[in-house]
Amino acid sequence: YVIGIDLGTSGVKITLVNRRGEMVHERSKAYPLIQHKSGYSEQDPNEWVEKTLEGLAEMVTLFTGNPLDIEGMSFSGQMHGLVLLDEQQQPLRHAILWNDTRTGEECKEIYEKVGREKLLEITQNLALDGFTLPKLLWVKNHEPEVFNRVKSFLLPKDYLRLKLTNALHMDYSDAAGTLLLDVKQSCWSEEIARLVGLDKALFPPLVNAHDKVGLLTDEVAKRTGLSNETNVFAGGADNACGAIGAGIYEEGKTLVSIGTSGVVLSYEESSDKDFQGNVHYFHHGVAERFYTMGVTLAAGYSLQWFKETFAQEKRFDEVLTELEEVPAGANGLLFTPYLVGERTPHADATIRASFIGMDSGHKHAHFVRAVVEGITFSLHESVMLFRQYGKEIETIISIGGGAKSASWLQIQADIFNAKVVKLSTEQGPAMGAAMLAAYGCGWFASLKECGDAFLSIEEEFVPNEANVKTYQQLFNVYQQVYGKTSELNE
Ligand code: XUL
Repeated sequence: YVIGIDLGTSGVKITLVNRRGEMVHERSKAYPLIQHKSGYSEQDPNEWVEKTLEGLAEMVTLFTGNPLDIEGMSFSGQMHGLVLLDEQQQPLRHAILWNDTRTGEECKEIYEKVGREKLLEITQNLALDGFTLPKLLWVKNHEPEVFNRVKSFLLPKDYLRLKLTNALHMDYSDAAGTLLLDVKQSCWSEEIARLVGLDKALFPPLVNAHDKVGLLTDEVAKRTGLSNETNVFAGGADNACGAIGAGIYEEGKTLVSIGTSGVVLSYEESSDKDFQGNVHYFHHGVAERFYTMGVTLAAGYSLQWFKETFAQEKRFDEVLTELEEVPAGANGLLFTPYLVGERTPHADATIRASFIGMDSGHKHAHFVRAVVEGITFSLHESVMLFRQYGKEIETIISIGGGAKSASWLQIQADIFNAKVVKLSTEQGPAMGAAMLAAYGCGWFASLKECGDAFLSIEEEFVPNEANVKTYQQLFNVYQQVYGKTSELNE
């Protein structure tokens, strides 16, 4: 057996997988976002550790076998979040997360000090609020008393792993999202560090996602009931693990993942293509391979906001049954999911969401449908961007919360005008993390071989021509809403 731990934004998901790739047990534990101001988004790193330990202990109680048969564990983590450590490897403040947008000034500072062209040349990415370097500079600029005590920085799952093993590392797929990695050369960029005035001593050692970093500590073993001989593998960024868990191992493969954020991700064999920073370009969890990706900041988060505000008493699956009550296009009601700003294609932290075209005939179900369609339109902007760069996207593998509803999968097929595939082993990033452990333990000769053994298709959704037409018209309107509402914000 192996364990995959997905340290997400809304909670941690722990999956126990057997040698056939079947999920044997699963535990989830939620934790809150800490939002002191609009645009702020933080979490307490020790809460991640506590909840993970609780979940692991509960899972071991459910497991009827011998804990020694659990050979390894690995991780998938929410990307970009900044954890600052002191000399004792304790967090100096709460983590600042990927969906925190306080760093507009620091992004400008990066462009001034490094230059847009050089930044793009070295990192293959632009300075966006969500990335880690702007957060480091924000703490340096606003909390110098904290910054002066920093001995190293980590990303969320690296901190969790540190507390489970006492070994401090960062893996390439997550490091790529810091804006401090030379993505083309696969090493920390001394040049960027020098230009922005950061000491390289703060940067943790880099490892591959499948590398073994150590064993569980005695203390963690005692607390969870796991063996202190459990091998621990580094793990990767959640989107890289999602790609592993969805079988994205060759050019031409594309996935859509809808969690708190939403992404459209496409495999890249090399790190040197030119997308001019219009999509993110990061290391894959497969060593020395890459992916490009467009991001919707509030995907599942928009639905969660809607449910908590307008349908508190219902479960997500109950809310989603309303999708079938109204036709494609929600009778003209349109939603843009910019609740916390937007990344792709607008890279705009200040834009906010809107409902357009409300009519006295619209009911609750129209709003549900409009929210789901609006999230999917936002993802479609990334699909269209990839198509403009010449990628042929005829089939898309859909994972995450958005793949749990057949109605939403059909909406994806109709909006993307592509065949949408749902996998039977739908565990997304947690499955990818388990696969890193399975490969690390030597069960397979490659991650692809593991994918061939573990992954299979459950259902395919083919575009419905009439709906495709409806959505093409509505998408034209959707694309205009950004420009018109951002004018109003100015
Ligand atoms: C990717 C991003 C999000 C997080 C969500 O750039 O910011 O998808 O990884 O956990």
